[in-house]
Amino acid sequence: MLTLAVSKGRIYDETVPLLKALGLEPAVCPDKSRKLILPTLNPDFQLLVIRATDVPTYVEYGAADMGIAGKDVLEEYEATGLYEPLDLGIACCRLMTAARVGAPDPLSGGRPRVATKYVKTAHRYFARHGIQAEIIKLYGSMELAPLVGLADCIVDVVDTGNTLKANGLEARDLIMQVSSRLVVNKAAMKMKHTAISRFITAISQTVASHAGRSIQP
Ligand code: ATP
Ligand code: PRP
Repeated sequence: MLTLAVSKGRIYDETVPLLKALGLEPAVCPDKSRKLILPTLNPDFQLLVIRATDVPTYVEYGAADMGIAGKDVLEEYEATGLYEPLDLGIACCRLMTAARVGAPDPLSGGRPRVATKYVKTAHRYFARHGIQAEIIKLYGSMELAPLVGLADCIVDVVDTGNTLKANGLEARDLIMQVSSRLVVNKAAMKMKHTAISRFITAISQTVASHAGRSIQP
């Protein structure tokens, strides 16, 4: 049995077409069921449906053989017990600083207060620029913090920029490009080498053909 940990929402939605192409389509839809372990059309392959930030934990401890997680989540988790063999090119966005329109740039000096759920990544980023930021940990709706005086700026993912715009904020500095990666538990890679290698080869071919399809006229 191979187990793949994925999060509900955009990563699940963008992963299912890749799994379908491999005959590994989930037999149950997570939105219609309270089940957290989802069987697939292949009796030897199952999904765990968990929070996005928990995916590296399940994989590092071997509770899942493999997982799919955003590069933002992997950077923040600082995993050492994981292989990251494949960029799946899904759930693409950018990790950025953002501030109120017209406010000073977060990198312009002083000791900015930064609201984010990416505490370690933000700390590392500002330290790299010689700025000792005060990081305030939030769990969501980061865009609110500068509007109510909780923070000078935020570090969060940006895709269309609509959320920033709707809240009078603007993106400032790019911290990193983000996409979702396949991660694999190191022990499972040894113990289930044949099955996992076969899965990685198959899904990388599917990713390549999906990418090819999206650039067709
Ligand atoms: P958790 O539930 O653990 O707090 P989350 O709410 O961030 O996680 P999602 O919103 O489903 O979970 O995001 C999962 C991943 O998708 C993120 O880690 C990031 O890599 C990517 N992502 C987040 N927001 C966007 C977006 N607006 N557009 C594209 N990709 C995104
Ligand atoms: C994410 C992120 C931003 C938004 C950016 O939130 O936290 O708020 O997407 O996307 P945009 O640039 O296209 O507006 P999400 O939609 O995942 O909601 P969340 O607060 O549940 O994480």
